[in-house]
Amino acid sequence: MHPVSGSDQALVAGIRTAYAHGADGWAAGPATVYRRLAEALIATAGQPLAGWRVLDLGTGTGVACEALSRAAAHPVGLDLAVEMLAHRRAQRPPGVAGDARALPFRDHVFDAVVAAFCLNHVPDLGLALAECRRVTRSGGLLLASSFPADADHPAKAAVEAVLTEYGYQRPDWYATFKERVAKLTGDPDTFARTASAAGLTDVHVDLLEADAGLDDPHLAVEWRLNMPHTLGFLTTLAPTTRAELRARAIAALPPDLPSVVPTLALRARIV
Ligand SMILES: C[S@@+](CC[C@H](N)C(=O)[O-])C[C@H]1O[C@@H](n2cnc3c(N)ncnc32)[C@H](O)[C@@H]1O
Repeated sequence: MHPVSGSDQALVAGIRTAYAHGADGWAAGPATVYRRLAEALIATAGQPLAGWRVLDLGTGTGVACEALSRAAAHPVGLDLAVEMLAHRRAQRPPGVAGDARALPFRDHVFDAVVAAFCLNHVPDLGLALAECRRVTRSGGLLLASSFPADADHPAKAAVEAVLTEYGYQRPDWYATFKERVAKLTGDPDTFARTASAAGLTDVHVDLLEADAGLDDPHLAVEWRLNMPHTLGFLTTLAPTTRAELRARAIAALPPDLPSVVPTLALRARIV
């Protein structure tokens, strides 16, 4: 058994709690953006996934499952936060609560794993990648996305500056996550090297520039306000203050927002 440190456990607990309170917010804002990014990730498979049994790792409110179902695959969602799985439960494929570092599945039961912006949350990246490999059959695929460490979108700083004027401070878990964990998958070489070291083969990490619709100022603001690290603060404000903050955030955006947010897509084969 791989040792897991106490600080890792504290970070994972912080992430779980933030997402547990964030399901409705995620569905109201970020999911619209992430739906398009999940489509772009799944398109990197380069082959039909029809009939494939696919694990959607860190499924959240299920945007990758939706794309997989449209591709006639048979997805199963897994998430650390049962509340994310509970969102619109009746309309979704099967879902299981669990941790990417210790998947509750037997060996080789999936044809592929899709991890849309999940591995960038996991402190022990090598362990999670080894688990993806273990649960996938020989000849199967891993598709995993993350954000490049230097990726930016002007809405991020603009909305955070307005939040800060209202008293927002980054939660501790988010600062640790940004400084220590997201960097592992944010660097294409580290991401690819860690995947190879976990026994994955034919590993490629590509920069994707998918249209996420972020040239719409309302979507750009809802994307930032409803992230799990900001939503907790937002819900402490009175409805009138929240409405005022939203209006000020829209006014603070620069003109000509890019619709694209760059992402990294790892594609690897399981032997
Ligand atoms: C950025 S959201 C992405 C959700 C969804 N894949 C999407 O694209 O909309 C990350 C998701 O990964 C889940 N997650 C974070 N750490 C995890 C872990 N160690 N094991 C399983 N899920 C995890 C979170 O609860 C959250 O739902």
